[in-house]
Parts: sequence; C-alpha cells; structure tokens
Amino acid sequence: MTTPGSASRYEQKGKAAAYEARNPARTRAERALLSALLARGGQPSSVRVPSILDAPCGTGRLYPWLAQDLKGAHYLGLDGSLAMLEQAQAKDIPAAFIQGDLQHLPLAERSFDLVVSFRFLHHLAKPEAATALRQLARVTRRDLVLSAFHPWSAHHLSRKIQNWLQRRPLPRHAHSPRWIREQLAHQGLREIERARMGHFRDLWVGLYRKSPPGLLD
Ligand SMILES: C[S@@+](CC[C@H](N)C(=O)[O-])C[C@H]1O[C@@H](n2cnc3c(N)ncnc32)[C@H](O)[C@@H]1O
Repeated sequence: MTTPGSASRYEQKGKAAAYEARNPARTRAERALLSALLARGGQPSSVRVPSILDAPCGTGRLYPWLAQDLKGAHYLGLDGSLAMLEQAQAKDIPAAFIQGDLQHLPLAERSFDLVVSFRFLHHLAKPEAATALRQLARVTRRDLVLSAFHPWSAHHLSRKIQNWLQRRPLPRHAHSPRWIREQLAHQGLREIERARMGHFRDLWVGLYRKSPPGLLD
C-alpha cells in the first residue's frame, strides 16, 4: 500500500522517532482528558475482553493508557505511515499493528467495541474528515472516542490570524462539536460525553455511542 497523502509527512526522516518526546505537558493533559472521558462514559462492560481499534495509532502512544484504563483489551493499531508503525512495533507490546488508510478502512463493519481516533481529524478538511468519520463509525460496534480542534479556541484563532497575515493556507482544520455530532448522527451514533482542555487550547475530545443493531437499520 502507498502511504496516504495526509500520513506522508510522518515518513520524513527523524519525525517518527521524535514524535513521542514532543510536548510532555500536553501529553499528560491529553492522557488525563482521555482517561476521564472513558471513566465518565462507562467502559464496554457488556463484553469481558473488549477490542479496541486505535486509528491512527502513530507510534502506539495511546497503548499504555488504554491498556491501563481497559484492562485485558485486545488492541489493534492502524496507521498510514510505516515509519510511525516501526516505532510502535519496536516497543514489543502485546498489540497488533497494521498499515491502512482511514479514508478506506480495511476492516469489517462493527468489528471493535471501542474505536479511538486521537490527534487526527484536525489534519483533514471537511470532505476528508467526513469520510474518515463515516469509516470510524462503520467499524465500531459500540463506542467511538475522537479528538478534534475547536474553532472557538484562542489557540486556533491565533493560528488563523497568523496564517491569514502571512497569506498561508491553514495547516490545521478545526471541527466543531456540533458538526461532528451531525456527521455521526447520520451513522447512528450519539454523543455521550465531551471534554475540553480549556478555552486557550484547541483540543477537545468526544465519546459517541452506536445504537444497537436493529434500532436504526
Ligand atoms: C498526530 S499523529 C497521531 C497519532 C496518535 N493517534 C497519537 O495521538 O499519538 C497523526 C497520525 O495520523 C496518521 N495518518 C494521517 N493520515 C492518515 C490516513 N489517511 N490513514 C491512516 N493514518 C493516517 C499519520 O501517519 C500519523 O501517525
């Protein structure tokens, strides 16, 4: 498979190896946000050993967090970048990793109890983001957790102004909770919980749940 365009920047020399060491304070805040959201939203308790898809998984950064919060879960990480997957595989953790494109997930419908997509959607403009959301919604059996950038955050607004002044295209895309809720509602998912890092930072995280089969079919 060729690397999807949106993943190709992670193939640049040294980028994948340096990825996890970036911004430790932000990483701690993200970990706390994700953990609180999973605790508040309730874990996939109807199954003894839940299955998790982490897409895109990057270097497998989220694996230890998810393994701690959802003990014993089966974890599959999917990413478009081979350099990022190499970092993940080098960790020697009890997890499986595959290369794949989030615009066409090579996975069956309703095949995971929980699908997590973290720090990804802001790389995509609306049409590609809508396709990725449809794909993520298709493969979850129950829950979907995703992060996005908020359009009304000081961080995103300052980024917008700087890029406008320098006549550059926006390098990151913000997607509002409302827009994501609407996209996912078409796929039979409803919002359960939402958490935000604060009004300065742009990252927010949502937990969405799929209706049982039959209800919307
Ligand atoms: C900022 S990293 C986030 C990785 C991980 N979720 C985390 O939070 O550490 C974004 C990842 O998206 C992957 N990616 C970008 N476009 C993709 C696509 N179309 N299909 C699969 N992976 C993609 C990149 O290779 C990169 O690893």
